[in-house]
Amino acid sequence: MKRTLVLFFLLVSAMAIAQPKVDVDKQIQLCVNQYKGMLAVCTDTTLFPQSISPDGSLYKRKSDWWCSGFFGGSLWYLFEATKDDSLKRAAEKWTMAVAKEQYNKGTHDLGFMLYCPFGNGYRLTNNPTYKTVMLNGAQSLSTRFDPKVGVIKSWNNFNGYKYPVIIDNMMNLEFLFWAAKTSGNKKFYNICISHADKTLKNHFRPDYSSYHVVCYDSVGNVMARKTAQGYADSSAWARGQAWGLYGYTVMYRETKDKKYLDQAVKIASFYMNNPTLPADKIPYWDFNSPSIPNDVRDASAAAVAASALLELSGYVKKDKSKSYINFAEQVLQNLSGPEYFATEGNQHFILKHSTGHKPAKSEIDTPIIYADYYYIEALLRYKKLMARG
Ligand code: GLY
Repeated sequence: MKRTLVLFFLLVSAMAIAQPKVDVDKQIQLCVNQYKGMLAVCTDTTLFPQSISPDGSLYKRKSDWWCSGFFGGSLWYLFEATKDDSLKRAAEKWTMAVAKEQYNKGTHDLGFMLYCPFGNGYRLTNNPTYKTVMLNGAQSLSTRFDPKVGVIKSWNNFNGYKYPVIIDNMMNLEFLFWAAKTSGNKKFYNICISHADKTLKNHFRPDYSSYHVVCYDSVGNVMARKTAQGYADSSAWARGQAWGLYGYTVMYRETKDKKYLDQAVKIASFYMNNPTLPADKIPYWDFNSPSIPNDVRDASAAAVAASALLELSGYVKKDKSKSYINFAEQVLQNLSGPEYFATEGNQHFILKHSTGHKPAKSEIDTPIIYADYYYIEALLRYKKLMARG
């Protein structure tokens, strides 16, 4: 009788432990199917899959576009999840296709372009060529940091402003942290701290939403706070909020400075509790769009935020951690359902319904390569968390 009771208790406890609500292995296999289709139609490695054009065709861009690293990076994640050698060969090919950007000093996006493919490739293979490319790339990126201003310059010109910095730039710091650790050169670390501190001071509003663009003068004074991709200067462009959340989560991971954790937690709260967030938790492209609810979503923002929240869940107390995991799980469930996930067609992309640059009438309600990347990353993070119990 006693033994039966103990067994009963164990069974009830086991059932109480969270069961994954997303079948990651199944989703990964479906992603692989889509991307094997993509590999079959993308044979020229100077043209990278980007999104779908308004005429329905596959839109490809060259390696100097900020998104060139996402395809290779996703292939590495899919190889990691499946150990399928053909994916490894494809990942190697699409990674090296971006290599020449290591010398590109004209963009702040080298973190996206180099760390997503080469960083994942290096993590999985230790290929020394990848390390060299990334160290050169980090050096190129660091030339965009002016110590008098204290931040990395995003673009060379924005509406006449000569030192614009966008919240997206927080995403490039993970790459520089890697370079600091790998090269032993503290310069890269110091740039991260300076950039993150100044962004924390100048990019955020009292409600912890962020401006998209902050324009500085040559000695680091704020001249203007603007938007490029959002609805208005004063609005909360959805993907920008997700970039900030991800960026400050990484800042905490790399420094263990609590001020960055606090910032990430506050951004998470703004994002998760936003009254305009729909029930499926896939945000409209801008939280303040006056057209809500008759406006387009941004699945890419949802994927970035889900991935960030899964990491952040490891740094906070139990209740908060649970709420982050639950939220990310709901996002992944919805992104994995028929409304957002393509099991065929979709020009071989995985997710539907992302929005790139609505004010420029560019990439509206379409698949976009970076949505796929962060969705796959979030799936793998979720699987690891569930395996830990
Ligand atoms: N500038 C990067 C983005 O569109 O999110």
